[in-house]
Amino acid sequence: MFTDLYNLLFLSVNLHSFVGHVQKIDTNDTQGSVTLRTLNIKPLVLEADSFLSQEECDYFVKMATEEGLQESETVINQPDGQRFVLRDHDGNRKLTVREMKHTIQGSFDVFLEDEDILKMYRETGWDKDGDEMITNDELKDFSPTMLQNEIQKILKANPEKHSRMSKQVWLYPDRSKDKVFATVQKRVARVVGLPIELIKLSDFQVVSYDIKGHYNAHWDSSRVETKVPCCTRERTKKCRICRYMTILFYLNDVDDGGETAFPLANNDTLDYQSVMEKELIDLYRKCENSPLKVAPSKGKAIIWYNHFVDEDTGWLGPLDEFTFHGGCPVKKGIKWIANFWVKTTDQKMKDLKKMQKFYKEATKHKPKISKEEL
Ligand code: OGA
Ligand code: FE2
Repeated sequence: MFTDLYNLLFLSVNLHSFVGHVQKIDTNDTQGSVTLRTLNIKPLVLEADSFLSQEECDYFVKMATEEGLQESETVINQPDGQRFVLRDHDGNRKLTVREMKHTIQGSFDVFLEDEDILKMYRETGWDKDGDEMITNDELKDFSPTMLQNEIQKILKANPEKHSRMSKQVWLYPDRSKDKVFATVQKRVARVVGLPIELIKLSDFQVVSYDIKGHYNAHWDSSRVETKVPCCTRERTKKCRICRYMTILFYLNDVDDGGETAFPLANNDTLDYQSVMEKELIDLYRKCENSPLKVAPSKGKAIIWYNHFVDEDTGWLGPLDEFTFHGGCPVKKGIKWIANFWVKTTDQKMKDLKKMQKFYKEATKHKPKISKEEL
């Protein structure tokens, strides 16, 4: 039954091979049809207006509100305040202002400006000789906790300097018998051409952003590391996030701002040094420089593949690093989105068995997948 999964995964990518390509898919439900438009090739991003009805959007917002949203976590909120990796790029054992900024970004997930660093030096006296560099000697006088406290102070006055400022909630409507969610799951399966059994293993997260709310550039999934297994709902420790596909729904119209940006889109290479130099990751400040931006619109979905398909296994392949993306700051109004993450693991047989279990439960048939079929 799942023999053509490889073809499905592969086909779904190849179908949309030029910008502007349009494909109309009958959804066999109240929505009637969904029209997929290819927005970009590198990375491949598809767009569908009215993927969700206005009522479905309102329903998800209501569900999320009733469940209660939490501040999205950033590293600094975690108890382990001792994480502190010096980014002495040129290895001269002195931290320039830029290197200190990168140290703070890397260790605390906080994006400061030169002026923040200089003000911090002035107030703490860490830069004893005032040369705007922190030497090994000067470093000895302050601990990671002291640095963390200073950053906390800055964040208190300017919370938008977090890499992420949003609230979120995980919903598990598939565990209840939620009809709206079941309909949307079926629609997603039809539109992206993947089996409903795989779609049912997806995660669903609703996120809200207030004014200045944003999410700096990141990947939704992780690089392949063969020693670390993929996370599943059962396995959450010592694992890496494996999300084959992102379907991002916009649940409302934003008055201004709040675009989803892809700062590496259509770059010739993955030149991370220039990304650091141009500070493209800092979407709060540099959103305008992103080559691909998608404006929110109620009911619209954008879809991209975080991973390529492994040609040997026909299953989860390498991370498509061009999918680096994030949410630009909301300038006026609020923004609601939902992330629908289609997850697979790197263990094809296990995934297929899980999918078969869903299928069995749904149909009460007992189909067998033969080894040859897989
Ligand atoms: C995310 C994300 C982008 C946006 O939640 O992972 O990338 O536009 N959001 O809100
Ligand atoms: Fe994301």
